[in-house]
Amino acid sequence: MDPSDEARQLENTAKEEVLSAKSLEDLEAVRVKYLGRKGLLTGLLRKLGEAKPEERKELGKLLNVAKSALTADIDARKAALKGARDERSLLEESLDITLPGRTSAIGGLHPTIKMMREIMEVFLGMGFTSVEGPEIETEYNNFDALNTPDWHPSRDEQDSFYVADGFVLRTHTSPGQIRVMKSQPPPVRVIVPGRCHRRDTPDASHVISFYQVEGLYVDYEVSMADLKGTLAAFAREIFGTETRVRFRPHFFPFTEPSAELDISCLVCGGGGCRLCKDSGWVEVLGCGMVHPSVFRHVGYDPRGVTGFAFGMGVERLAMLKYGIENMKVLYDNDLRFLRQFRT
Ligand code: PHE
Repeated sequence: MDPSDEARQLENTAKEEVLSAKSLEDLEAVRVKYLGRKGLLTGLLRKLGEAKPEERKELGKLLNVAKSALTADIDARKAALKGARDERSLLEESLDITLPGRTSAIGGLHPTIKMMREIMEVFLGMGFTSVEGPEIETEYNNFDALNTPDWHPSRDEQDSFYVADGFVLRTHTSPGQIRVMKSQPPPVRVIVPGRCHRRDTPDASHVISFYQVEGLYVDYEVSMADLKGTLAAFAREIFGTETRVRFRPHFFPFTEPSAELDISCLVCGGGGCRLCKDSGWVEVLGCGMVHPSVFRHVGYDPRGVTGFAFGMGVERLAMLKYGIENMKVLYDNDLRFLRQFRT
């Protein structure tokens, strides 16, 4: 075949192959096939020297034009294929901004802790300071210093977990009173939140690990009226301004006189229902004037100082406040229950 015809034919087939290349890889193969070092067009150029001198100039021109046309075609095809590929990957990677977002799961406070913080908030607002004591307490702080010696019948009631000789899991937060008074002179105005343990049989209103908030106010002229005023104000803050309170005489070894604070029933308002066992009142906490013997144990002079103390079960208050019938549900770890308290 005439070398210039061969060149033209080669150019045409090369052009077709370029146009039908479906990917950048195909296209590269076409380029190598024609323009590579051993490529067909390269081969023709190399053989230019064998052509007849009168044809050489014309053929050289033809081949060079073909080469640059093919190069241009390849570049154009390359750009087209690249563009298509970019568009495809953009589509594949794109975000659908109309999809609802994925929220991360945020936890919430446990209802008991929420209740505890609410209680503390009220007393902190009244000028009390919060302090904490250890859960493993000395028998002395938990009982003896609180005027509850070995033989005292109330010691049986608070059946306890003894962890080592002379140590007990605190059965109430009252040992906090001893620690605070031993560490500073009067006046004292503290609350002591914390976890307590008793060897109780669990039922609708008892668990073996529970929380209490203790309160202690000692100064030179603290009276029972201060106790009543403070706790009545507290009850109304927590349970609402309509709440009525009553102080019912009770016994605690470490206070004298002692009382339990009742509030008008939250469910029936005092008329009588299942929650208040038809009495119209529900018990909220224990309180009283600090017993002189407690002052003596901590080195305070009972002839000079007076004070009041109180202690409340946090779960008990949570049950009243949130209308929970069984204390157990607080610790079942059932998210359907707990989520209701998420804020
Ligand atoms: N510690 C008592 C209890 O656990 C409550 C209490 C505290 C009573 C302080 C009087 C004064 O039942």
